[in-house]
Amino acid sequence: MPGATELVELACALSRAAGTLIVEGRRRGVRDVDTKSSATDMVTEFDRQSERLIVEGILARRPDDGIVGEEGAHVTGTSGVEWVIDPIDGTTNYLYGIPVYAVSIAARDDDGLAAGAVHVPMLGETFHATRGGGAYLDGRAIRCSRCVDLSTALVATGFNYDPARRVEQGAVLQHLIGVVRDVRRIGSAATDLCFVACGRVDAFYERGLSPWDVAAGELVALEAGALVTSFDGGPAVGEALAANPTLHSEMRDLLARAGA
Ligand code: IPD
Ligand code: CA
Ligand code: CA
Repeated sequence: MPGATELVELACALSRAAGTLIVEGRRRGVRDVDTKSSATDMVTEFDRQSERLIVEGILARRPDDGIVGEEGAHVTGTSGVEWVIDPIDGTTNYLYGIPVYAVSIAARDDDGLAAGAVHVPMLGETFHATRGGGAYLDGRAIRCSRCVDLSTALVATGFNYDPARRVEQGAVLQHLIGVVRDVRRIGSAATDLCFVACGRVDAFYERGLSPWDVAAGELVALEAGALVTSFDGGPAVGEALAANPTLHSEMRDLLARAGA
């Protein structure tokens, strides 16, 4: 297996290069916007270009690795390393000019997540982590918050593109909103997880996530001391609940009471 340092350095470098590409692309103007799973699920030419840049960058350095990307990249590898890419996490923010969108790149091996980078170009920030090596924001070690009380917890969440699911998510939120300090819908799940990691929010939960939304941010949050699981404490597949272990348990009970 390659060293995690090599993987994370590549993830950081490519996430920054892709960040420059999407920011400059947006400045010149986004012409090509299509929809995917629903009328609200959008994809631009820069989602595709960003993914292409990352895939080419990985294959140039590590031609035997596998790759899965949101915009269709699918490379079967032989090295035992597979990359998971979200070329723009937060495409709605990107289109509207809300400056919180990210490029998310993770590498996993037989033992799970090995390395991850989340670059938020408009904040000029890069989060990264390696398994067992800690979590960092622009090179400084980060830890999740120590908040253990729901009433003082700032909780981030997100909503799925499927309208029926959004209605259910709204109902869950109705139970939560009077119990926690406040709620944020930041618009980028990868950023939400990194914000848990550095204490900018105390918890994050969302149902209906894809592997590329979660992978890199999950490792960053885990390495910063958070628990990241499904709503019932299993692996974070298709959904995620992230917080320090004590608050995580409180959030888990609260979500169960809310019927999530
Ligand atoms: C979306 C964002 C959003 C979350 C959605 C994701 P995209 O990713 O992470 O915050 O609520 O569930 O699909 O479509 O912008 O890559
Ligand atoms: Ca995403
Ligand atoms: Ca995306």
